[in-house]
Amino acid sequence: MSAPTSGTTPVIDLRNVHVVHRLRTGKLFRPDRIRAVDGVDFTVHRGEVVGIVGESGCGKSTLARVMVGLQPPTSGMVLFNGAELGSHRHARKQLGRSVSVVFQDPATALNPRMVVRDQLLDPLNVHGIGSHAERLAKVKELLHLVGLPQSALDVLPRQISGGQRQRVAIARALVLDPDIIVADEPTSALDVSVRAQVLNLLADLKSTLGLGLVFISHDINTVRYVSDRIAVMLAGRIIETGPAQEIFDNPREAYTRKLLGATPSLL
Ligand SMILES: Nc1ncnc2c1ncn2[C@@H]1O[C@H](COP(=O)(O)OP(=O)(O)O)[C@@H](O)[C@H]1O
Ligand SMILES: [Mg+2]
Repeated sequence: MSAPTSGTTPVIDLRNVHVVHRLRTGKLFRPDRIRAVDGVDFTVHRGEVVGIVGESGCGKSTLARVMVGLQPPTSGMVLFNGAELGSHRHARKQLGRSVSVVFQDPATALNPRMVVRDQLLDPLNVHGIGSHAERLAKVKELLHLVGLPQSALDVLPRQISGGQRQRVAIARALVLDPDIIVADEPTSALDVSVRAQVLNLLADLKSTLGLGLVFISHDINTVRYVSDRIAVMLAGRIIETGPAQEIFDNPREAYTRKLLGATPSLL
C-alpha cells in the first residue's frame, strides 16, 4: 500500500487497535461483549482521502470515534501527528483542532438554539483565536466555502434544509483549520437529491484546502469517486485496503467483490 505521502508522519496512526463494547444487559447465553474493532492498523495523511466501507454494524462508527479521540481503545496504540494522545485537557484540545468530525445527522453537531453565526464562532471563542472582527471574517469566509449565502448567518438549524444543515456542520468542522476531517456517513441521512452536492463539497475541500478526509460509508459506490484509497471493513477488521482504482479493478477479497456487486445506490 503506497500513499502518495508515505514517508511523512501520518496525522492519524492506529496500531493494532481493539475496541470491546461491554453491554450492561449481560444475559445468560448472550454475549455481553462486542468486539467492535478487532485489530486495526490504519493511517491517514494530510491531503489524502481514505474511504472506509463495510456493512452496518461492522465497526465503522466505533473506529471513527477512536480516530477523533472520542473513544479510547481497549488495547492498541493511537498516535496523532506521531505522538500518543495524553489524557490531559491540553492534548485533547490540540487534537480537537487537528482532527474534526462530521456525523451522519447534522442535528447532533449543531445546537438547536444557536443561530449559524454563533455555532461557527463558538470554537473560535473557546480556543481564543483572533479578534472579534477576524472571527467574524473567518465565519463569513467559511459560509462562502461551503456554498451557503451570508443570509444563513442569522438562521437557526431548524429553519434550513437537511443538506444546508450538513453544510453548516461541515463549516463548523472546518473552523479550526483541521488537518483531517473524519466524515461518518455524512450523506446517508440526506435527501437523495442533495447527497451528490454534499459529497462534491467534501471532495472540493480536499483540493482547495489540501486537507485529509476519512470518508465512511456502508455503500462502496458512494466513496468510489472521492477516495484515493479504500479500506474494506468486515466484523471489526480491515480485510482489504489499497488505491481506490485497484480495489475496483482488481478486488482480492470475495467480500469486496460482493460489496461491488451490490446494486449501486443513488450515492
Ligand atoms: N456504545 C456501544 N455500546 C455497546 N455496543 C456498541 C456501542 N456502539 C456500537 N456498538 C456495537 O458495536 C458494533 C459496531 O457498531 P458501529 O461501530 O456503530 O458499526 P457501524 O458504524 O459500522 O454500523 C455493533 O454490533 C454495535 O451494536
Ligand atoms: Mg455507523
